[in-house]
Amino acid sequence: MGYSNGILLICILCVSSMPCIVYASFNPQDIIFIDCGGNKTLILDDGRVFEPESGNPHVTLSSHNHNAVSVLDEILVSKSNHSILYSSAQVFRETSSYSISTKQIGRHWIRLHFYPIENPRFDLKSTVFSVVANGITLLHGFSFSKVGKVSRLVKEYVVEVNGSSSKKLVLTLSPWNGLVAFINAIEVVSVPNGQFPSTNIMAVPLGPGIQIPGHVAFETMYRINIGGPNITPKNDTLWRTWEPDRAFLVNAASARNVTANPLSIKYPDGVSVDIAPNWVYATAQEMADANVLNQKFNISWAFEVENGFSYLIRLHFCDIVSAALNRLVFNVYINQLSALDSFDISSRTMELSAAYFIDFVTNVSMGSDRILVQIGPPMLRDLPSNAILNGLEIMKMSNSRDSLDGYLSGEYYTDSKSPGGKKKWMLLAICSSSAGFVVFVLLSAAFYLYLPRIHQKKTNPHSSSSTWLPLPTHVGLSDSKISIDSSASTAHSLGLGRIFAFLDISEATNNFDKNLVLGVGGFGMVYRGVLDTGSVVAVKRGNPCSQQGLTEFRTEIEMLSKMRHRHLVSLIGYCEELSEMILVYEFMAGGPLRKHLYGSDFPPLTWKQRLEICIGAAKGLHYLHTGAAETIIHRDVKTTNILLDENLIAKVADFGLSKLGPTLDQTHVSTAVKGSFGYLDPDYYRRQQLTEKSDVYSFGVVLLEVLCARPAINPSLPREQVNIAEWAMNFQKKGRLEKIIDRNLVGHVNVESLRKFGETAEKCLLEYGVERPTMGDVLWNLEYALQLQEASIQFTASAANSANYISDIPEWMPQIEIGDGDGHDQTISDQESDTTSSAVFSELDDPRGR
Ligand SMILES: *[C@@H]1O[C@H](CO)[C@@H](O)[C@H](O)[C@H]1NC(C)=O
Ligand SMILES: *[C@@H]1O[C@H](CO)[C@@H](O)[C@H](O)[C@H]1NC(C)=O
Ligand SMILES: *[C@@H]1O[C@H](CO)[C@@H](O)[C@H](O)[C@H]1NC(C)=O
Ligand SMILES: *[C@@H]1O[C@H](CO)[C@@H](O)[C@H](O)[C@H]1NC(C)=O
Ligand SMILES: *[C@@H]1O[C@H](CO)[C@@H](O)[C@H](O)[C@H]1NC(C)=O
Ligand SMILES: *[C@@H]1O[C@H](CO)[C@@H](O)[C@H](O)[C@H]1NC(C)=O
Ligand SMILES: *[C@@H]1O[C@H](CO)[C@@H](O)[C@H](O)[C@H]1NC(C)=O
Repeated sequence: MGYSNGILLICILCVSSMPCIVYASFNPQDIIFIDCGGNKTLILDDGRVFEPESGNPHVTLSSHNHNAVSVLDEILVSKSNHSILYSSAQVFRETSSYSISTKQIGRHWIRLHFYPIENPRFDLKSTVFSVVANGITLLHGFSFSKVGKVSRLVKEYVVEVNGSSSKKLVLTLSPWNGLVAFINAIEVVSVPNGQFPSTNIMAVPLGPGIQIPGHVAFETMYRINIGGPNITPKNDTLWRTWEPDRAFLVNAASARNVTANPLSIKYPDGVSVDIAPNWVYATAQEMADANVLNQKFNISWAFEVENGFSYLIRLHFCDIVSAALNRLVFNVYINQLSALDSFDISSRTMELSAAYFIDFVTNVSMGSDRILVQIGPPMLRDLPSNAILNGLEIMKMSNSRDSLDGYLSGEYYTDSKSPGGKKKWMLLAICSSSAGFVVFVLLSAAFYLYLPRIHQKKTNPHSSSSTWLPLPTHVGLSDSKISIDSSASTAHSLGLGRIFAFLDISEATNNFDKNLVLGVGGFGMVYRGVLDTGSVVAVKRGNPCSQQGLTEFRTEIEMLSKMRHRHLVSLIGYCEELSEMILVYEFMAGGPLRKHLYGSDFPPLTWKQRLEICIGAAKGLHYLHTGAAETIIHRDVKTTNILLDENLIAKVADFGLSKLGPTLDQTHVSTAVKGSFGYLDPDYYRRQQLTEKSDVYSFGVVLLEVLCARPAINPSLPREQVNIAEWAMNFQKKGRLEKIIDRNLVGHVNVESLRKFGETAEKCLLEYGVERPTMGDVLWNLEYALQLQEASIQFTASAANSANYISDIPEWMPQIEIGDGDGHDQTISDQESDTTSSAVFSELDDPRGR
């Protein structure tokens, strides 16, 4: 009955009040908001009322040595109603406790607000302290200077108030030797019953159900409204914040957001707005091009986490996409292990648009630093495939040493060596080792020397809208850690690949359905197809009028079949029945690299992603040049010939123009000049002699395109800007490359990393082939650039770090051509036209003259 009452209540509320968020369902026993160091009551526009410590009946502060600090920053006060919280802080010079009495026992949300107020007395930005709540270490050796670019921080925890602690939550702040601790605001809200599971929680890898004892505490790492907007505390009954998911999507092209009317969301028994507001259930990501065809790929989200802990992962589902029950069946994977197999939401909820959630517990072991959540269609199913996810929460669980923070912890860290430096903002926590102690002493000394003339750089409290530690999105999938092969590539056998019957191919492509065309090239059409095994493939069908003879076709197959590499698009097989010439390749869900750089609305790639993609492509080319018995020269390296898979792994495609390179007694191959304008090696053009250094030149152009996010040739620009190589090299030679980088990278690129990258591109573009580095050298340099970037993120300490990032606004914004036009790099030798916007497979050029 509670169920229908619930719905009734929701309906009434929704009808009666237009801002349709249901506030009333849960009345927390304990709602305690403390404005630390404040001197008056603060009312926020979301209804929270913060009282100062003094005169607050719920709070006793045990400390003899504390000072309130405050600012009356006009901007801070006027800009947002929330920021007023950050205008005061309580500063402690010795270990001090807030003792907060609660009405209820059981779990409570705790939110801690930190903002290092600039003030003449204390350097809050670089001080170091720890926070413990009812025996659970929440923060250990925390320092704001390690947080990175955010100026304020809200940390959210769930900690138990048990019967024997006489209904008290004791929050202890301990400054590290000689320093101070501080806090701006504290929230304590009792958690509704049933909000956290305790028994029989599903484990991943699947095993016996997990029990979570009451004293285990949680820290919210991520709370995501998948496919929807940011949800602020105002729109959440428990004042939670839900972030959008785009930043965590490994490949945004694989997903499409869907939205339903929030009023249509039903809450069955056991689920309420306290689990998640209707706005969370009313939005989701589904598979891009869902229901079109039997697609086989996953949507993946990657979240950076600290290893050595267990995590509670809560997935929120609500079928807002199906027309009928039992139509949406999909798989869910956590860290590449099956979590839900052939999951049908409607079999659990018995209706559509009904809220549903499931919890999982998984361990993130050493050597890994992320949680990968994936959804995708099951392998064998005839229905149109789709998969959805509406919301996601990742909560870190306290370990057996009752810690939620780092190296204090138990079983995983027995020696004092830093486990891989994964923790970015808590480098100081290595203090248990003697080296750590030296660091600490130095830091303290530095602090005292620094004290008399505290003059910090002005920080802007509004520079980040993020409310808790925004760990850098970790989507880099390095080779060693992950190797999600597309299902297609497993299908190929050794040798020359599978020989397909024409009938199979025709079935796979729905009789060469026009709707499945991915691209058109000189060779013919490229179609998306699905094999009988369920693998998605790209099918290139030779145009009967194409001049490529059967012998060449066979030579090509032989050559392609010999090349198997993680960074080369694999040939799965071919068909030469009925005078057809058909090549079957693995399908690359992410499409060409160019689409991720400009001219589409894919989210901008991070610098790290760009470096990883360049490294991947460089590995592919390096293999072409050196891996096989004979050197193979690609001859048409460009951003449309570097394809990305669903996980943004780069693979070099399209060997239509490839040539075997010079043998030992030759130094070059003479050929008719082929390639694409803008990428063409001038040395080759002049001398008509092909070496693998021509690919190096083209790759240099690709590097610039990746950096500046503009086409290689853009005829609509002023003369000196038309050709990217000329234009960018002018800036590189003046040491001003940072002026022309993609504006999305500004502020996120380490100077040293950029310098290395610029030098590498410059060497690739040298006038004479002999002067240019080999792909192996290029690869090495790019990897070095990546290391420089990563190191700077991990180890930059203190306020000085911002100086290492490019933060200028570029003088000149590259003009970006809108649309899918590929027209600006005409291929010399043929009349290619890869037209379709979904040109996942770029054209196969006319291989005349081979
Ligand atoms: C938040 O609530 C306000 C009304 O309080 C409503 O107008 C707005 O659409 C809501 N936004 C979201 C994202 O839930
Ligand atoms: C409250 O703090 C502000 C800022 O420090 C100060 O200007 C004001 O006088 C204080 N008010 C009271 C009543 O102490
Ligand atoms: C915030 O906004 C609410 C309502 O809009 C108002 O009552 C309150 O005084 C504001 N608080 C501050 C600190 O400005
Ligand atoms: C209750 O919590 C306190 C810490 O606040 C802890 O010392 C005690 O062991 C807990 N008791 C039980 C029965 O869990
Ligand atoms: C949904 O997708 C559209 C188009 O891709 C995009 O413009 C919009 O920002 C997305 N909305 C959210 C909430 O991510
Ligand atoms: C989806 O991901 C899982 C785990 O990473 C993998 O086993 C499965 O093959 C993937 N499915 C497809 C269609 O790629
Ligand atoms: C995680 O590791 C702990 C300690 O090794 C173990 O007790 C627990 O069962 C593991 N949990 C899962 C979900 O594997």
